[in-house]
Formats: sequence, structure tokens, C-alpha cells
Amino acid sequence: MKPAARPRNPCFSSGPCAKRPGWAVSALEGALVGRSHRSKEGRARIKEVSDRSRKLLGVPDEYRIGLVPASDTGAVEMSLWSLLGPRGVDVLAWESFGQGWVTDISKQLKLPDVRVLAADYGQIPDLAQVDFSRDVVFTWNGTTSGVRVPDAAWIPETREGLAICDATSAVFAMDVPIGAMDVVTYSWQKVLGGEGQHGMLILSPRAVERLESYAPPWPLPKIFRMTKGGKLSDGIFQADTINTPSMLCVEDALDGLRWAEEIGGLPELVLRSKANLAAVADWVARTLWVEFLAEDPAIRSSTSICLKIVDPWFTELPAEEQAPIPKKMASLLEKEGAAYDVASYRDAPPGLRLWGGATVLKADLEALFPWLDWAYEEVKKG
Ligand SMILES: Cc1ncc(COP(=O)(O)O)c(C=O)c1O
Repeated sequence: MKPAARPRNPCFSSGPCAKRPGWAVSALEGALVGRSHRSKEGRARIKEVSDRSRKLLGVPDEYRIGLVPASDTGAVEMSLWSLLGPRGVDVLAWESFGQGWVTDISKQLKLPDVRVLAADYGQIPDLAQVDFSRDVVFTWNGTTSGVRVPDAAWIPETREGLAICDATSAVFAMDVPIGAMDVVTYSWQKVLGGEGQHGMLILSPRAVERLESYAPPWPLPKIFRMTKGGKLSDGIFQADTINTPSMLCVEDALDGLRWAEEIGGLPELVLRSKANLAAVADWVARTLWVEFLAEDPAIRSSTSICLKIVDPWFTELPAEEQAPIPKKMASLLEKEGAAYDVASYRDAPPGLRLWGGATVLKADLEALFPWLDWAYEEVKKG
């Protein structure tokens, strides 16, 4: 039977993610539109984003934090293009985004000494095999498989290589010890429900040392360049952005950060995300047709929660008949206004993906579960 109540907010996309509870366009009323981002006030607002982010995330004082172009992708790529080359590289990949970084490093940068540590969807590579005498590139949370690294214990404090981490679907929702790594990147459109196209780049002193002591042999476009005359362009980390950010998006990012502070900061954000995962786990435990894609709870994401259909009716279908089923479910749910964007990512095994980051209320997830059951039965009926 079709459930009676819908989630109050049906947004469960893994990016752009749901706005914070209570968000309205009026949150942007004070935006510094029509003004230069290089004005005193413009710079102050950009700086405020970095300062509030630093405090919320516990970024060590000696680390740089800056706003960069082209979202998380921009932040990762400017790091890879600027830093890699002097050492061999270990790249970890267990889903689409990690595989994307493998492609960049192997096929675009064409580095000669690259080890790819790969695992299938739902699994993670053996972290004990990672060699930190080399540079290491990994995603904290694989957004398309719902698998995350369990912690930072596998990253040695004394390492020769740099630990470069794409943490975009983890920061503000998981305990990510930024001081344990050298490069950490994320974008605003994820856990705090900000807007696309703006990236954040965090650099350790060792990453800065690499930038200042190594010049890659390939050309670097302006939007990737972090040094001038062999010195760090420190302005990038002091609100002098490489190019023009949207001051509307800056205002929105500030709104998200203030909200995060008001509700209790990082501990509360993490708690909310964990509670969302626990709610999904309860539903999965009592639901026969569905299971987590990540079997091991230690590596199960609390943000991009990926589910597979295990009902024999589904698993016995040929692959080409399985793939459209979650998509049909997602489109039924969208038509009903019960849930948006819950089908798995285009490169992932067919299934469902529910965002459980801190802007999603547990009550909305709980209201969604009967709709998922309904949509599955509808699609099964044909
Ligand atoms: C792990 C990961 N890396 C990179 C990206 C790309 O992020 P953006 O679109 O903000 O550049 C995403 C987006 O979902 C992601 O989940």
C-alpha cells in the first residue's frame, strides 16, 4: 500500500546534497553581490569561510586552507598536477571517483611508477599494503560504493611520501583527522549542503615544502598554479583566490557553517550522520529484499549509503534486466515527491543510494523506508 506520509524533505542526493533544515533563499539576502571579491569586505567573507571551516574541522594552525576553482575535482587535480612526480605513487581505488584519480595519474600525467591498489564495489584494498615511502592518493569515502576508510591508523606519522586525500563526501560528517594527512580536499556541495563549483584545499607544511622544492615538468594552467618563482602563492590561502568565486555561494557556505556551529559543531554533525546510518541499518535488518553494498560495518559510509537488492526475484534476472529496476524505483519515488536522486551512481552496480550526511534528518529517512518498500513492490509487480 502506498504510504500516507512523505518525508518533509525528499532530497537524498549524494551531491549536491540536501540544504540544511530550515534553509530558504532568504539565507542569501546579505550576499555581497555586485561587489568585487577582492574588496575588503569580499576578502573578509572568503576568509571567514576558511576560518570557520578550520575551526569546525580542527585543521591544525600550521596547515593552509584555501578556496579554489572547480569544486573538489579542481582541488584534487591542482594537487595531483602540482605535487606528483618526484616519488612513486600508490593510488587506491574502490569505486568510480578513486578510479578517476587512477586515470589522471596513469593516463594523463603518465607517471612511470604507479601502483594501483584496487578493490571491487563494496570492498576496500588492503591498507596494510600501502607504501608511505611513496606518495599516496586515496578518497576517504568512496561516494559511489558507500565504502570509506575505517580510520587514519594506517597512515604513519613519519612518512616520506605525501598522503593526498579526496575527502569531499566525508568531512563534516565523519571523524577525518586532517592533521594526519598532507592534502585534504572537499567541495561545498556535499555535507553542509552548499553549492557546486567551489573547492577547498588544505595543505600540510610538508605539502608546501614539496610545492616549493619541486617544479613539475609539464605545463600548469593558471587555475592549477600554486607557486610563483618557486615560492608558494600564499595569497590563495589568505582569501586572494586564483579567479572569481560566486559571492552568493560564499554566503551560502557561511550559512551552512554557522548552522553547523549552532547545532553543536563537528561532534553533532558526526552524530547525526551516524544516527542516519543506524536508522538505515535498522530498516535493512528488517527488510528481506535489500542489503548494504559494503558488507563490513567498519568501512560502511554514513554519508553515501549504498544498498543492493538481494531478493532472488532480482538477482536471478540477467544483468541487463537488473539495471533498470532501481532507476524505475527512483523515478516512481520522484513522481510521488517521496524521494529524489536515490538510484545508484551511473558506474556503480545497480542499487540505491541514500545520502545520510548531517543535513538529512533521521525522521525523513524513516519516512522514506515505507516508500522504498512500496516502490520495490510496484516495480516487482511490473
Ligand atoms: C569522492 C568524490 N570525489 C570527487 C567528486 C567530484 O566532486 P565535485 O563535483 O565537487 O568536483 C565527488 C562528487 O560526488 C566525490 O564524491
